Amino acid sequence: MSLHQELDKLRGKALTDLKQIKDQDSLMALRIKYLGRKGELASIMALLKQVAKEERPQLGKLVNQVKRELEIAFLRVSKTIGDRKSQGIDFTLPGIKPPIGHLHPLMRVQRELEDLFRSMGFMVLDGPELESEYYNFESLNIPIWHPARDMQDTFYIKGGKPDNRWLLRTHTSAMQVRALEKYGAPLRAVVPGRVFRYEATDASHDHTFWQLEGLVVDKDISIANLIGTMKVFLSGIFQREVEVRLRPGYFPFVEPGFELDMKCLVCNGLGCRSCKQSGWIELIGCGLVHPRVLEFGGLNPKEYSGFAFGLGLSRLVMMRYKIDDIRLLLSGDLRFLEQF
Ligand code: PHE
Repeated sequence: MSLHQELDKLRGKALTDLKQIKDQDSLMALRIKYLGRKGELASIMALLKQVAKEERPQLGKLVNQVKRELEIAFLRVSKTIGDRKSQGIDFTLPGIKPPIGHLHPLMRVQRELEDLFRSMGFMVLDGPELESEYYNFESLNIPIWHPARDMQDTFYIKGGKPDNRWLLRTHTSAMQVRALEKYGAPLRAVVPGRVFRYEATDASHDHTFWQLEGLVVDKDISIANLIGTMKVFLSGIFQREVEVRLRPGYFPFVEPGFELDMKCLVCNGLGCRSCKQSGWIELIGCGLVHPRVLEFGGLNPKEYSGFAFGLGLSRLVMMRYKIDDIRLLLSGDLRFLEQF
């Protein structure tokens, strides 16, 4: 019998055998018999070597054709008999519920704040976490020699220019001048985001935390606008009256500047570790935008004024859910996360 005939015979035999197949196990056995590494087709292929050189390419082509045809036939049968597991499944049995995740408390509060500020006509902006010294400090009226740089020490990245290095931003205020450059005035924007500090960690400090910046620039903006906005937003987020106090606070990029503290909700003002036993939580730094900052943003401070605030989003989340250690937020501990 010529190789050609043998190939034909094998093809016919395989296709007839296939018709008898009813389950995956025997299909697999048949597949090994014909198409396996030591199967019948393989032994015909081995014989190709003995064929005259001129005939070899043509025969080789034929072998491949048969192989492909059989493979398709096997696949078709495999599909019609279904997979091994679906045979004998009882569809009335109760299923296994796939675990579904949920938003991290930080993201939940962040999104709520975004909605709240959007409803007051603010845009929501996003900014880079890897920032330049210029936007993080210089353009906020904090020159290189200024002691305020030590108060917000951070992680510097290798490279960059000696007078404008790359760093992990220490506050979302780094977006103030970026936003002014891009959108000009009038402007109402909030910027939620992750910030970093080179810091010894404890229950109320972490090296990585979240803030939400707010910036409003227009004509005739005053402290009354600032206080009004803070009140609306705090009662909106806590859905109740919260006690706050305003103290003078120093930030080189506002003048005058304030710290807005909130009565600690974890201990109700009695003193606990999340408020460092003081009964109050430093929640918001704010003030009227410093004229220098407006200038850096390309605006004339004689024409425009504005207010800015930086809200400790992580702290707010802690107050909201009565979390007494900031480090839990980034711990990734499911025992913590699954409580929300
Ligand atoms: N960026 C300041 C901080 O991180 C907070 C702040 C923002 C203060 C805007 C005033 C105005 O501490």
